[in-house]
Amino acid sequence: MPKGEPLGLLYLDCTRNLVAPGVKRYIEEMDIRRVGVLGSGIMGSGIAECVAEAGFDVTLRSRKQETADQMRVNVEKSLLRKIEKGRITEDGARAIMGRVTVTTDIESLRGCDVVIESVIEDLGIKQHLVRELSTIVSPNAIMATNTSTLPVVAIAAGATHPERVCGIHFFNPATVMTLVEVVRPVTASDETIETAVAFATACNKEVVTVKDRAGFIVNALLFPYLNNAIKLFECGMGTIEEIDMSMRGGCGFPMGPFALLDMVGLDTSLAILNALHEEYGDANYAPAPLLKRMVSAGYLGRKSKRGFFDYH
Ligand code: 3HC
Repeated sequence: MPKGEPLGLLYLDCTRNLVAPGVKRYIEEMDIRRVGVLGSGIMGSGIAECVAEAGFDVTLRSRKQETADQMRVNVEKSLLRKIEKGRITEDGARAIMGRVTVTTDIESLRGCDVVIESVIEDLGIKQHLVRELSTIVSPNAIMATNTSTLPVVAIAAGATHPERVCGIHFFNPATVMTLVEVVRPVTASDETIETAVAFATACNKEVVTVKDRAGFIVNALLFPYLNNAIKLFECGMGTIEEIDMSMRGGCGFPMGPFALLDMVGLDTSLAILNALHEEYGDANYAPAPLLKRMVSAGYLGRKSKRGFFDYH
């Protein structure tokens, strides 16, 4: 952790095209320069944007050139929105983009000090990727997974240095949500967790360190609520619009449960509920039948343009 620098002073001043001195010193103390992000989904580009905005060099890696280029476009679009809103200057955005490189070649991650994988939630694929990465990056590099459902220890186990593997879990949209969960698998060293916490803090996030248990803190609390919203709808308590309106107006939530399910993705939501149910065996986590049917039908929410709402 940086010494003598209150966290409140950590800010980015993109209008002057600079990283504020407090942040700069912080980054230097951590000895983290280059960060690798793998996975071309919405989380991958969101994480990459946060990291580049915080002053780190970022290498974005996707298997295909087309999706790698698309990640760059996603970051650019998001920065353009920030320029339009007067949050950053054109020069500031250019400086951020100047720190972003895209590649299809996994070997390009060799010089990274932190690598965050955000690929598909498939244990075999993540294990294989982390194993391969661990033979490429330096033994001192931290390898993090953005998994929301899988046991981090199972992803760490195959790495050449499992003590360097942990979870760094961002929330959707990654550039907006202020929290990051740093997940400590039993295999991780204290130094890995401390560095991951310092890194996420330098990315301007509030950080909570959590145990490697299904759902960590946020999803373990959020998903029973989302699941119960579907169950309420199924038993005819109200329409989708009425339930969403109720939770926005009655609880001050920024989105109703169905809008949030569509944003997170119904397949991802089902996977999270299945993982919670398998871990805890609590009936409250058993996915609502309608959720399972919608996923079977390919209605996955915003990403497939159809979920509880229609996005055509
Ligand atoms: N991607 C990137 N930025 C987005 C965005 C998106 N999809 N949607 C909105 N934003 C940005 C806007 O550009 C705006 O930025 P600004 O403050 O710099 O101007 C800001 O968010 C607010 O946007 P709007 O005023 O247009 O829209 P809202 O006020 O409706 O806010 C929201 C949108 C931020 C998505 C808000 O509705 C919200 O906070 N929703 C809850 C999100 C949530 O609960 N996420 C957690 C999901 S669980 C999870 O991620 C865990 C994982 O493991 C599945």
